[in-house]
Amino acid sequence: MFGFSGPVFARGLVLALILSSAVSAHKDHTGEKTSTDPCKKISGKLFVPPADALACQKSFPFNETLRTSVLQTVSRIFDFFTFEDYYLNSPAPFQDSTTNIRAELARIGTTKYATDYDFNRDLYNFANQLNDGHTAWYPNCYNTFQNFLPAPVVMLNMNGTDGVYVIPDLIEFIDQLGTDFTDYFDTIKFNWKRLAGAKVVSIEGMNPYDYIDLIAKNVSGNYLDRGVRANSVVSSYRIVNTDFSQRFGDLAGPTFVDQNSLTFSVIPINSTKVETVEVPYYAGYYGNKFTDGATFWLNNCIATSDTNGVDLRTQQSAMVSNMVPVRRSPLPRGVINDFTRAKAFGLPPNFQPNLPQVNESAGVIKSYILPDGKTGVMFIGSFDGDYVQFQTDTVSAIQGFKKAGVSHVLLDLTNNGGYICLGEFLHQYLAGSDFGYAGFQSTNRANSLAVKIVAANIKQNLTYTYYSPLNYLFVNGTPIPETYNYIKPSLPLVVNGVSNPTSQRYADYCTPFDVPIPRKAPFDLKNVAIVSNGNCASTCAMFSTVMNERHNTKIAVFGGKPGDVLQFKGMAGNQVLEWSDLDTEIRTAGLKNDPLAPPDLLVNANFRHNWRTAWSYLDETTPIAYKSELPKYRFAYTKDTYNNPQNLWTFVVSKLFG
Ligand SMILES: *[C@@H]1O[C@H](CO)[C@@H](O)[C@H](O)[C@H]1NC(C)=O
Ligand SMILES: *[C@@H]1O[C@H](CO)[C@@H](O)[C@H](O)[C@H]1NC(C)=O
Ligand SMILES: *[C@@H]1O[C@H](CO)[C@@H](O)[C@H](O)[C@H]1NC(C)=O
Ligand SMILES: *[C@@H]1O[C@H](CO)[C@@H](O)[C@H](O)[C@H]1NC(C)=O
Ligand SMILES: *[C@@H]1O[C@H](CO)[C@@H](O)[C@H](O)[C@H]1NC(C)=O
Ligand SMILES: *[C@@H]1O[C@H](CO)[C@@H](O)[C@H](O)[C@H]1NC(C)=O
Repeated sequence: MFGFSGPVFARGLVLALILSSAVSAHKDHTGEKTSTDPCKKISGKLFVPPADALACQKSFPFNETLRTSVLQTVSRIFDFFTFEDYYLNSPAPFQDSTTNIRAELARIGTTKYATDYDFNRDLYNFANQLNDGHTAWYPNCYNTFQNFLPAPVVMLNMNGTDGVYVIPDLIEFIDQLGTDFTDYFDTIKFNWKRLAGAKVVSIEGMNPYDYIDLIAKNVSGNYLDRGVRANSVVSSYRIVNTDFSQRFGDLAGPTFVDQNSLTFSVIPINSTKVETVEVPYYAGYYGNKFTDGATFWLNNCIATSDTNGVDLRTQQSAMVSNMVPVRRSPLPRGVINDFTRAKAFGLPPNFQPNLPQVNESAGVIKSYILPDGKTGVMFIGSFDGDYVQFQTDTVSAIQGFKKAGVSHVLLDLTNNGGYICLGEFLHQYLAGSDFGYAGFQSTNRANSLAVKIVAANIKQNLTYTYYSPLNYLFVNGTPIPETYNYIKPSLPLVVNGVSNPTSQRYADYCTPFDVPIPRKAPFDLKNVAIVSNGNCASTCAMFSTVMNERHNTKIAVFGGKPGDVLQFKGMAGNQVLEWSDLDTEIRTAGLKNDPLAPPDLLVNANFRHNWRTAWSYLDETTPIAYKSELPKYRFAYTKDTYNNPQNLWTFVVSKLFG
């Protein structure tokens, strides 16, 4: 039974008066000085009405110099993007991501924009709709707010019928935003509490599933699979750092503040009548302090010392050697930047597992033995965080399971991403070292500048860069020597009729790990299963895919729109390079002055890209990102499982191992 504490108000719903029109003077703003500075109006506030936040964001005039410079950088970064030509005609079932990237950049280069925000927003939308969380534009100037709707939604199966509901734990969840948030709704006399658990009949006049699908298409981004994106639209549980957390979802917690309210038709709990209610958003501020427009710009919008890369050859040797604690280069990462992690709210404590943890001091991995006494659960919140502790946590969980006589293991990967080598570590640990290489074959693009970078790495015997041959193994498992050029001669690759030469195939060099790996699998791999919501990105996607492709592991995915396909992996690129990482590679190779090198960003922003491709074992000519792989099991969330991991594990274990 689903229980919640806290009062539930059953007063009549109050239609909120939608927010001030005081900013309308800035509507078609062209950068001319107005009498009031819209940024000054909101300075020092934790929460502000979204229209006020947007007025501040739109107070900076469009600047042609910035546009030209940003687009030159971005366009040259795209030369390194391994999936560029796949986008010309994205293979089914991912066809809705099809985009002509160069044509879009040309369009953005000639569009007339009124404000700097409008330009950045267009560039953001274009990159976001590539639906590859490894390839994205993050203008920090405009990522300083998060818009919050006190009505996150979920897709639940109730008594055998699918429907969209306002989260039943609304009151406990929203109360965590504090009185700065909730007092506002009291002031405008909006009773959001009454919406807890309400059945949603329509959103903005649309069927609620269609509206969720629209947000999945327009807003969510990150994942090639639209079914997985539908799960990002709604609320879900996760681990952030080492704490249980609940996501708002992209409908109720978007980064941009261009929506003031959302109109719902709902049937509140204990009612049979459909009521229409306009729910206001209220935006939280998470950027650097400012007092007015000029200081907002200075503190949030112009390039910082971290925006662009560095020449590692001129860094203190201590700093460089700090970067090689385990491997020879900084640890390669494949991770989604989910900005909502920075301002995460907890999973209300009454929905967190009440079983004792197998090791209470464990970090990002929370492990339990279910009451059946035979199933061990590892909830792996991410493959990120403390690199060594991830490994020691795995050892203590598996040893704890063994000691308790556990025979089955469930891995919960809901809302996960992280270090490539930790994905390989977990696979290696579960499969045993006798299994051999735990990762995928991979490649990067052999564009002219990349070819020069590798040559410069070899010539200077650089050992701490991502392009260094020392980072990789030949596909037969032997290390690539520092003098071996793996990118020249390049290999031909034709994608959608376009020639896109690539490096030779190589393997990741993740070993040795920091803990001893058992030679044999500690548990029969038939008794190891994975569960997630498909928001399993990057390293998580590579880990689930390698388990599927090499061991035919049972994978169960929850949620998605009923009737739609839902992949178990959200986005399975491979290594991502942030702009500053790529720039560091270029500078350290001594090629910053090369005519093909992207110029420095002048603004406080990041354009990241998927730098390596991982190739499928099932079809060696297809990147795993484009290999449709469906879970063997698919379940709807219920009111008892959507925010309650322990209930979900108990349910899924009965289906998978029962
Ligand atoms: C446009 O941005 C450039 C680079 O930051 C700056 O030098 C220039 O003054 C800006 N132009 C205007 C009109 O503000
Ligand atoms: C589901 O069934 C329970 C028990 O019969 C009932 O109380 C509840 O109102 C039903 N919920 C919905 C959404 O139909
Ligand atoms: C979705 O995107 C389309 C195309 O960019 C746009 O016309 C539409 O207004 C957007 N809808 C919403 C609800 O964001
Ligand atoms: C619904 O009705 C039940 C039974 O009267 C009551 O216990 C519960 O608090 C009500 N829930 C809401 C949200 O009003
Ligand atoms: C529990 O985890 C911590 C942190 O990873 C580790 O140091 C400790 O050895 C573990 N304890 C056991 C009993 O495995
Ligand atoms: C390159 O550097 C590595 C690590 O310092 C060293 O072991 C190796 O001998 C060097 N190779 C050449 C060709 O200088």
